[in-house]
Amino acid sequence: MSNDENQHFMQNLTIIIATILGILCLLIVFIKAIGNNDQALSDEQMTSLINQTRPVGSARNQSSEQQTTTVASPVASQPVEETDSGKQIYDTVCMSCHSTGLPNVPQLGNAADWEERIAQGEALYENAINGYTGSSGMMMPPKGGNPSLSDDEVRAAVDYIVESSQ
Ligand code: HEC
Repeated sequence: MSNDENQHFMQNLTIIIATILGILCLLIVFIKAIGNNDQALSDEQMTSLINQTRPVGSARNQSSEQQTTTVASPVASQPVEETDSGKQIYDTVCMSCHSTGLPNVPQLGNAADWEERIAQGEALYENAINGYTGSSGMMMPPKGGNPSLSDDEVRAAVDYIVESSQ
C-alpha cells in the first residue's frame, strides 16, 4: 500500500522533472537559435553596411572636415569674445553699483571718477578682487560680492570698466 503510493509518487516526480528538463532544453535551444539568428543577421548587415556606406562614409568624413574648418574660424576669434566676457561679467555682477548712480560709487563712463583710481595700476585690480573701502566709507565688496568669479574674470571686468571710462 505505502510502497504503491511511493512508486506512484516517484513516477509523478520523474514525469515532472522530465517535463521541466524538457522545457529547459527547449528554452536553451530556442535562445541559442535566436542568438545565432541575430548574429548571422548582424554579420550580414555589417558586411552589407560596410560595403554600401563606404563611399557615403568617406563623403561624410569630408563634409565633417569641412565643418571643422568652418567652425575653426569662430574659435580663432575667441580673444574678441574674451574682451566681451569682461563686459558680460560687468553687466551681470558690477553694473548694479557702478552704473546706477549710487553716491560715492565710481560710475562707468565717468572719466573723472576713475582717473585717480586707474592711476594706481595693479592696486586697482587687487582692490576689485580683495574688496576695498575708500575714504567715503562705501565698500567695494570682494569680486563685486560674487566669490565664484575667478581673479581673471574680475580683471576682465575691471579692464572693461577702464576701457569704458577714459
Ligand atoms: C555692492 C556694490 C558694488 C558692486 C556690486 C561692485 N562694486 Fe566696485 N566699487 C563699489 C564701491 C562703493 C567702490 C568705491 C569704494 C571707495 O572708493 O570708497 C567701488 C570701487 C571699485 C573699483 C575701484 C577700486 C579702487 O582701487 O579705487 C573697481 C576697480 C571696482 N569697484 C570694480 C568692480 C568690479 C569689477 C565689479 C564687478 C565684478 C564691482 N566693482 C562690483 C561698489 C561695488
